[in-house]
Amino acid sequence: MTFAAAYPAYAGTRALDDLRAREYPLLDRLGQVYLDYTAGNLVPVTLVDRHHRLLCDHVLGNPHSMNPASALTTTFINQARMSVLQFFNADPSEYLVIFTANATQALKLVGEAYPFSADGEYLLTFDNHNSVNGIREFARARHCPTTYAPIVLPEMRLDDAVLASHLTRRSAGGHRLFAYPAQSNFSGVQHPLDWIPLAQKHGWDVLLDAAAYTPTNRLDLSTWKPDFVSQSFYKMFGYPTGVGCLIARRAAVAKLQRPWFAGGTITVASVQGDKFYLAEGESGFEDGTPDYLSLPAIEFGLQYIRDIGIDTIHTRVRCLTGWLIERLITLRHSNGAALARVYGPRSCIRRGGTITFNLYDPKGRALDHRDVEARANAANIALRTGCFCNPGGGEIALGITGTELSSCFRQPGHETHLTIDDFRLCIDGKSTGAVRVSLGLASNLEDVGAFIRFAESFLLV
Ligand SMILES: Cc1ncc(COP(=O)(O)O)c(C=O)c1O
Repeated sequence: MTFAAAYPAYAGTRALDDLRAREYPLLDRLGQVYLDYTAGNLVPVTLVDRHHRLLCDHVLGNPHSMNPASALTTTFINQARMSVLQFFNADPSEYLVIFTANATQALKLVGEAYPFSADGEYLLTFDNHNSVNGIREFARARHCPTTYAPIVLPEMRLDDAVLASHLTRRSAGGHRLFAYPAQSNFSGVQHPLDWIPLAQKHGWDVLLDAAAYTPTNRLDLSTWKPDFVSQSFYKMFGYPTGVGCLIARRAAVAKLQRPWFAGGTITVASVQGDKFYLAEGESGFEDGTPDYLSLPAIEFGLQYIRDIGIDTIHTRVRCLTGWLIERLITLRHSNGAALARVYGPRSCIRRGGTITFNLYDPKGRALDHRDVEARANAANIALRTGCFCNPGGGEIALGITGTELSSCFRQPGHETHLTIDDFRLCIDGKSTGAVRVSLGLASNLEDVGAFIRFAESFLLV
């Protein structure tokens, strides 16, 4: 079947071809095949131009001062905040937006301030970015137990019954936080958003890591009401970098206990009185001077996505993802052995445009992902290899067991220091990583075709 016959909806996304020519002209001019959208979206010309004009046409000062230049900056920042709430359909009386440097800082804000205690719990999925895994160290410091809910091959989803057994467990009395990604940055799996009300019904606060989801999916916070949402804007629209946010329910924010105060976060702090008063709302969480020249560009970025239409982006990425996987898994060596093993769903149902796999020789031996990457680089194809900061996903996909890991980490000399090469030796020949390609708003059928031709170059006749 042809692509057009298999994915008729793609024809409705043709506007994105014009957009690609207009906003990302270098891609085709330089013959670059960009397949790393989960790491970062590309910079559109329009956003740079609009931001450049704004900076040239206004006098902007540090928003912590009280002069006209700072007042104007504050106006732009407030507009940006409102535009985030509007974009995600979040009611301002229910949610607030805390600007951060990136999703990681948003997650850290929650981790360091969540009231973890010995009778509380931190529950998270195996499938998580390290910036969510890292929150367990804040829990540990407060003697709060952490539980991981496993994901299961081949689709790398959770077993709903197992998750439900965790969520419905009786509480020991303390606060309980459940964290998961709306979309996996390893396998592309989209975990159900209806876990949010289920968890909340049983007393959990829910931290939804939306960093890999929002670039190609609609997140409607009037339907789904997680307590915390983490987000990096460069993944959504490519420019600017250095700005993310925590969208948080006001009721959940009230539970957070900030471990310190800083410039910008207090109403009053005293040296001799040894006291500080935290500012209310988002200000209490925005440490120091924000990236105030970049923040106004967030409104432009959200407008850019709105003008294109997030559903159009979603449809295009869904069609290309389905086609890429179908083509990749049918590639076979002359002896009939499959070239690729895809980790995660092989259809485009309940998954996004992140596809992770390893390539194999005719005898079924995995090709080193570093060699695949080197050849891709030489062919001007941008992809990613490794474990993508998602060790839980990697360990399940690659069959690395907890026992193997523990014995590796216990070896003499590995107490405090372990290089990636030590780790490779340690797990004895098993692949330590995989190859990831990811699609985004400027992807087209030619990109997928170029990738498939590249994959075919590994076929041995
Ligand atoms: C699912 C997910 N969460 C969190 C992050 C962290 O984002 P950042 O590095 O922008 O803080 C990433 C980055 O790739 C991600 O994919």
